[in-house]
Amino acid sequence: MKLAIVGGGSTYTPELIDGFARLRDVLPLDEVHLVDPDAHRLDLVAGMARRMLARAGHPATVVATNDLVAGVSDADAVLVQLRVGGQATRNDDETWPHDEHCIGQETTGPGGFAKALRTVPVMLSIADVVRRHARPDAWIIDFTNPVGIVTRALLQDGHRAVGLCNVAIGFQRRFAATLGVPHEQVSLGHVGLNHLTWERSVTVDGVDVLPGLLSDRLDDLADEVELAPALLAQFGMVPSYYLRYYYAHDEVLAEQLREPSRASAVQAIENELLGLYADPSVDTKPEALERRGGAFYSEAAVELIAAMRGDGSVRVVNLRNDGVLPFLPDDHVIEVPARFDGATFVAEPVAALPDDIAGLIGAVTGYERLALDAAVHGGRDRVLRAMRAHPLVLQHDRAERLTDLLLAANARFLPWA
Ligand code: G6P
Ligand code: MN
Repeated sequence: MKLAIVGGGSTYTPELIDGFARLRDVLPLDEVHLVDPDAHRLDLVAGMARRMLARAGHPATVVATNDLVAGVSDADAVLVQLRVGGQATRNDDETWPHDEHCIGQETTGPGGFAKALRTVPVMLSIADVVRRHARPDAWIIDFTNPVGIVTRALLQDGHRAVGLCNVAIGFQRRFAATLGVPHEQVSLGHVGLNHLTWERSVTVDGVDVLPGLLSDRLDDLADEVELAPALLAQFGMVPSYYLRYYYAHDEVLAEQLREPSRASAVQAIENELLGLYADPSVDTKPEALERRGGAFYSEAAVELIAAMRGDGSVRVVNLRNDGVLPFLPDDHVIEVPARFDGATFVAEPVAALPDDIAGLIGAVTGYERLALDAAVHGGRDRVLRAMRAHPLVLQHDRAERLTDLLLAANARFLPWA
């Protein structure tokens, strides 16, 4: 099997390689093609990937290239994990919204919107190359944020694509550890949009153990997602930590104003990682990688590809709604457990959601649809309309000012701005 990784020069790539090496029986890879425009990073990351595979005795070859066509040609699957503008632009996304008393975050709120505007056109042009050069049955596995909007952009253009995030697998692995059971036995009632999700059940051997966890370990669960215990208790669910940007907005903003940005912390970790990748004696996943947010993302990728090769398992993915959440349009992209039926992903049924959660999902869906419209067609009016629709913005004057800030910070990425 040939796997292409677009954005293969990412410092995260050894995380993936570690999963490929450990889960070799699940995913028989012959070739991994790392595609990246940054020759220096690509060289360091590819060297590290080769050493890791060699140490594990894995026979796959690693090819590094800046040529997208060559990289994806005849690929069986294409994983995309890119960040337009790198950490420096992420740092902008995380800071200019502060001028309008709004959190700065790479996928949520005005910063996430900026990322969508920069990223969607790049993803669509990559997907066109995949359509022309990869195997006709190849899938695009999208790790590129904002995953919900990007996946919908790809599906809307007729690509065979599925969006993936590590939030669900992170919960699954942590619940399994807490319960002392193998993770394969734990299934989640995970529902929402990417980075806007709730765990409403945790099933082990057909029994929902979440009510018991919420009564016995409420404080631990709340601590993990940094939300108030009373909030989890009232929902009877565990929201993901991305819900902090809504339910604890002002608290997060205050933290962000006193601390360095996540982008600057990540930049320091990346520098350390690149130093290690350059060292020919390093051939195992460095500890520093654990300080990134991507825990278990290699296992999520391997499990997903295994599911697409027909192992029959249920995986949490980003896919077309098609009536699963009846209050959203069919063509919206949601994040729920689904099974691969040999041709496509089919979501498991989802029970009706309480009004507060459905309301927030509906509001963010409205924003995401307008954001994609702005990303595809451009224009200040469209940006303003999507900005105002975001539930963290809403006020018209503020949306106007945030739109100006966004356009000023991103002009070099937006040909129409
Ligand atoms: C989680 C999210 C990813 C996000 C990452 C950020 O893994 O699911 O979508 O990219 O965190 O991690 P970082 O280390 O870059 O802050
Ligand atoms: Mn994610």
